Amino acid sequence: MSKVNKTHAQWSNRFAYILAATGAAVGLGNIWKFPYIVGENGGGAFVLVYLFCIAIVGVPVMIAEVYLGKKGRQSPMRAVATIAKQYSVSNCWKYAGGMGVAAGYLILSFYAVIAGWACAYVLQSATGQFDNATPAQIQTGFAELTSSPLTLIGWTTFMLAITAAVVAKGLQQGLERCVRYMMPAMFILLLVIAGYSASYGDFSQALSFMFEPDFSKLTVHAVLEALGHSFFTLSLASGVMIMYGAYLPDETSIVKTSIWIAIADTLVALLAGLAIFPIVFENNLTPSAGPSLIFETLPLAFGQMPGGQIIGTVFFVMLVFAAFTSAIALIESSVAWFVEKKGYGRVASAVLSATGLWLLSLLSIFSFTGATWANFDIMSLQFSLFDVIDKLTSNIMLPLGGLLIAIFVGWKVRQNDLAAELKLPENAFKLSFILLKYVTPAIVLIVFIYMTRIINLFK
Ligand code: PHE
Repeated sequence: MSKVNKTHAQWSNRFAYILAATGAAVGLGNIWKFPYIVGENGGGAFVLVYLFCIAIVGVPVMIAEVYLGKKGRQSPMRAVATIAKQYSVSNCWKYAGGMGVAAGYLILSFYAVIAGWACAYVLQSATGQFDNATPAQIQTGFAELTSSPLTLIGWTTFMLAITAAVVAKGLQQGLERCVRYMMPAMFILLLVIAGYSASYGDFSQALSFMFEPDFSKLTVHAVLEALGHSFFTLSLASGVMIMYGAYLPDETSIVKTSIWIAIADTLVALLAGLAIFPIVFENNLTPSAGPSLIFETLPLAFGQMPGGQIIGTVFFVMLVFAAFTSAIALIESSVAWFVEKKGYGRVASAVLSATGLWLLSLLSIFSFTGATWANFDIMSLQFSLFDVIDKLTSNIMLPLGGLLIAIFVGWKVRQNDLAAELKLPENAFKLSFILLKYVTPAIVLIVFIYMTRIINLFK
């Protein structure tokens, strides 16, 4: 590689990178989404398929992305362009990186809104609003929150402002410092809640629900959902892993760190399940409540159980921390792009990026509040602009981006170069390469085709 722009900062060490990348991976996907999709898809068998997807598809794609970042040392689109040039392949591959950044940007536009709900819940819980509340009161509270544009705009603005403020401070002073405190804090809070759940809730039923597979409950849709979620939860195809890889210290092993990150992310998801389901079963609530599981179902339990005001507050603080360390990752590639391409300073780039996000977030906000211009009813399919952004990113852009990245690294990058960087024993390298070159693209292609079948698009 002749001239690579090496102006980027680097993580201070391997541990800082693992913490930051785990912070990016661990988020609403682990604590909000994972438990409810396990609940909707019948438990144990789904968990097994999910673990398989993380190992067979998620880890290889993560390795490929971090490799691209580490070799390209720039924001995703430019990193891929540099590498494409090095191997004299079409410059168009850079759009695989560019699409990731776009997907990450779109994801953050609604992610910040949902993280804002979590902020609102911290306050509600701390001020005892769930105490002895009836299901109807809690539902009304949630409906009030999600239908009030001003409240949502307020919390979203707060989330985006602190995200931009941290990222503006730069890699080591901003992102790294933030994850150094927030990630351990988040993990300890999660352990506290899981411990509490284990002693207060119906832990054994939760264990058997999550870990005793009943394959009769497994549907094709569940398998595909597990695969799709493995992309989202590991923050793949969203520019994040290429960007964080671009800051990787030279001597850091891509394979080992990727495996650690995947294990940590999975552990947090499982722990979140073990924190939530015992409470759900103890209170005879339904595990298949769907997206409202933690916003409508759990507060009910917090309102009834001993010490629930504190545990509830701790739970939502933890959720905010988890979401925040993902939000800074999601905004970083667009900020880096402004810095590289336009030559702006980090503060100006962060402000610009956050302003664009704020405007985009209004689309989701007004979808939730039921504004007619943001909600559609076409051919008896009801969907909102939020649904469009959510499905467009999760069901189209992420799988497509993952597919392109696997193909690019599996087929266009010289095998010897990859082997030299990954430094794996020969057989392990062969196996990973086969996964990346054939297995991952084949599996992702199947999911992709399924997900984009128009009929499923808005389900
Ligand atoms: N992985 C994050 C989560 O589980 C979401 C995310 C997706 C973050 C893509 C960055 C990029 O919540």
